[in-house]
Amino acid sequence: MSLSPVRRRVAVIGTGAIVSGGHLPALRAHADRTELVAAVDVDQGRLDAFRAAAGEHVAGFTSVSAMLDAVRPDLVLIGTPPSLHREQTVAALKAGAWVLCEKPLCLSLAEYDEIAAAEEASGAYASVVFQHRYGSGAVHARELIASGELGAPLVAHCQTTWHRDAAYYAAPWRGRWATEGGGPTMGHGIHQYDLLLHLLGEWDEVRAMAARLVHDTESEDVSTALVRFCNGALATVVNSVLSPDEVSRIRVDCADATVELTHLYGHGNDDWSYTPARHVPAERAAAWRTPAHDVPSSHTAQLGTLLDAYDAGARPPGSGQQARGTLEFAAALYKAAFTGRPVRAGEIVPGDPFYEAMHGGHPDWAPEERAEEQA
Ligand SMILES: NC(=O)c1ccc[n+]([C@@H]2O[C@H](COP(=O)([O-])OP(=O)(O)OC[C@H]3O[C@@H](n4cnc5c(N)ncnc54)[C@H](O)[C@@H]3O)[C@@H](O)[C@H]2O)c1
Repeated sequence: MSLSPVRRRVAVIGTGAIVSGGHLPALRAHADRTELVAAVDVDQGRLDAFRAAAGEHVAGFTSVSAMLDAVRPDLVLIGTPPSLHREQTVAALKAGAWVLCEKPLCLSLAEYDEIAAAEEASGAYASVVFQHRYGSGAVHARELIASGELGAPLVAHCQTTWHRDAAYYAAPWRGRWATEGGGPTMGHGIHQYDLLLHLLGEWDEVRAMAARLVHDTESEDVSTALVRFCNGALATVVNSVLSPDEVSRIRVDCADATVELTHLYGHGNDDWSYTPARHVPAERAAAWRTPAHDVPSSHTAQLGTLLDAYDAGARPPGSGQQARGTLEFAAALYKAAFTGRPVRAGEIVPGDPFYEAMHGGHPDWAPEERAEEQA
């Protein structure tokens, strides 16, 4: 006789676009392992609309601390604007809950290390949503690259060329360092280069440029970077919200094959292609195709891995050093762009201005300096 799975009591904080469109469907897909018991939003109208969709049995709150005290959830899903993530993640950890928080988990490495300290004190874990790692195509590509089956990774391209208009930036938290943490480097391209880092492993050095070309934002609206990985591979990274022909793409040329992912906001098995080098026999290349069972990249796929980790009492994927590495890459890209110097992995430590904020206090980019300049 098989045991029925443990159902984790879940609360969501923020009931906007991503919680309604990403987390709620994920909870429904894992209804045998989760029970949504509470929702928090400071906007009563959004909260009411969410509860009407999720079920009136879901308790509604306008305060995070009141919800944590009353409900004591096992797991908290956070989908509020980025500037609230650190405080809400730490509060949930202190209440003993595990956390799955939207990207970016927080605004700086300093904030990340505060979350890490709260994790250690509580024994619970906080992980960050990077749903593109968890689709079957990405899992398979990572295994093929890590096993050496495709030969040594040599050259990679990582492209987030999206388009956002002025109406998008009318939301007051967007495009500002204090509330969004940065521009497309922190908010949009982070999905794609998180997956690149997941596929290629540790990076060693970043050189970069950033510019504000179109939007009236504090942060950049485009950035580009050159990256050297520890395995010797070289990569280019583009993060743009200025590109009318929108695409998300990762391409890795290995010694025996090119692996390429082309999609926009999510991938399935058919979005991955493998092109063998001329010297590779056809029967070897035929075995590379992603196996038929298609798990699209999604909040559902990531939530499943988190619940598995919860059941096992193990650190969930997308947390700890793994998630810190992606935020460190963002900080390094900004530091390289704003100082015009190459940045090495591990060099941004407490005392470095780019440890405290992604703009690093740089006079051309820091909000205080800009305000003075414009006065
Ligand atoms: N993983 C992805 O693919 C993906 C996609 C879009 C957005 N996101 C991320 O999700 C987060 C939210 O983005 P969104 O587009 O859903 O924004 P949104 O504005 O639609 O929703 C945010 C919600 O948070 C609520 N809120 C604000 N302050 C609050 C507080 N103090 N307590 C409780 N609720 C509060 C707002 O009222 C709103 O309902 C951002 O971090 C964003 O980067 C991730």
